[in-house]
Amino acid sequence: QIIPVILAGGQGTRLWPKSRAARPKQFIDLVGDTSLFQQSLERVANTERYGAPIVITNTEYRFIVAEQALEANVPLGAILLEPVARNTAAAIAAAAQVAVNADENAILHVLASDHLIPTTAEYFAAVDAAAAAARGGNLVTFGIAPDRPETGYGYIAIGDALAHGAHKVAAFVEKPNLDKAQSMLAQGGFAWNSGMFMLPAKLFLAECERLAPEVFAAATAAVADARRDLDFIRLDETAFAASPNISVDYAIFERTDKAAVLPVSFAWSDLGAWDAVWKGQTRDEAGNAVSGPTLLSNTTNTLVVSDGAHVVVDGLDDIAVIATEDAVFVGRLSAAQNVGKIAKTLRADA
Ligand code: GDD
Ligand code: MG
Repeated sequence: QIIPVILAGGQGTRLWPKSRAARPKQFIDLVGDTSLFQQSLERVANTERYGAPIVITNTEYRFIVAEQALEANVPLGAILLEPVARNTAAAIAAAAQVAVNADENAILHVLASDHLIPTTAEYFAAVDAAAAAARGGNLVTFGIAPDRPETGYGYIAIGDALAHGAHKVAAFVEKPNLDKAQSMLAQGGFAWNSGMFMLPAKLFLAECERLAPEVFAAATAAVADARRDLDFIRLDETAFAASPNISVDYAIFERTDKAAVLPVSFAWSDLGAWDAVWKGQTRDEAGNAVSGPTLLSNTTNTLVVSDGAHVVVDGLDDIAVIATEDAVFVGRLSAAQNVGKIAKTLRADA
């Protein structure tokens, strides 16, 4: 059985001010009328393919997770709570420990909760192929065909063919600079790391112990000393806090020789920053995408999201205007990656 592991502890700072410390992007209705977290749950709500999902999130988001899962009508296997954020390597390692304690042979389907993926037949065929490749002893990632030199993603050099349509990962480069991204795109033979993985839990833990022993030790101890609290499993704070703050991409995927990539062509987008939200929407002939009461004049390639205020934009190009009840952001869409850094300098509760 495949156990879904949903990562829902990110801060989503690049989508400020819609995404806030108290309610980050995965929990808001950014597209459609359910949250991205709920859409992630719905993708794994098939009991023929999947066991009950494990959600791993920050202690602060426990009630949002429980409430949204209930609303989506997807029963959860466990809600694992991180007392402090230590990034995705430690989060996945803790979830893998919990899964292995229940079933030694568990295969984990690790999902980010900030992705927009239509559930087509092609998507599920890829999930099944990835599971078969994972059972063959690989840490599998889904490879997306790159169409621009995006610096916010991991890049995978596609190596020799394996079974089930997967390939060896010849090299893994997490978040390259623009030069490097451009040269990989020009060279060809690379895929983006989708940030979604299919992992034999035991193999993942063995690689974690070998390549990131401090992460492994912290996650293992935090699970061993975890406390049950209603529906929640609270990881031990002292143990978990000892983990380095590192993503699974840097800690494991850049270093392991057990990684495989399954090149896929289903629709996928990481709603990471405002430019991705703009690209993901239907735009008019002038390249504008708006939601909420808006008047644009002589304006092109612009995104306006308003929760109620009337937004008027005149004579601008390449702009994001995000107007919420108590905060407004205006900036260049092409510099959308900066928003995260800016939001982090604001008050902690912003
Ligand atoms: N539980 C938990 N704890 N979840 C976390 C934490 C944490 O400390 N930090 C991040 N997450 C969750 C986020 O909520 C998101 O769903 C997922 O983990 C990925 O984190 P991001 O912060 O969105 O990562 P990224 O987009 O910069 O990069 C990753 O995804 C790209 C594609 O979307 C990498 O895997 C890249 O290689 C990949 O290309
Ligand atoms: Mg992301």
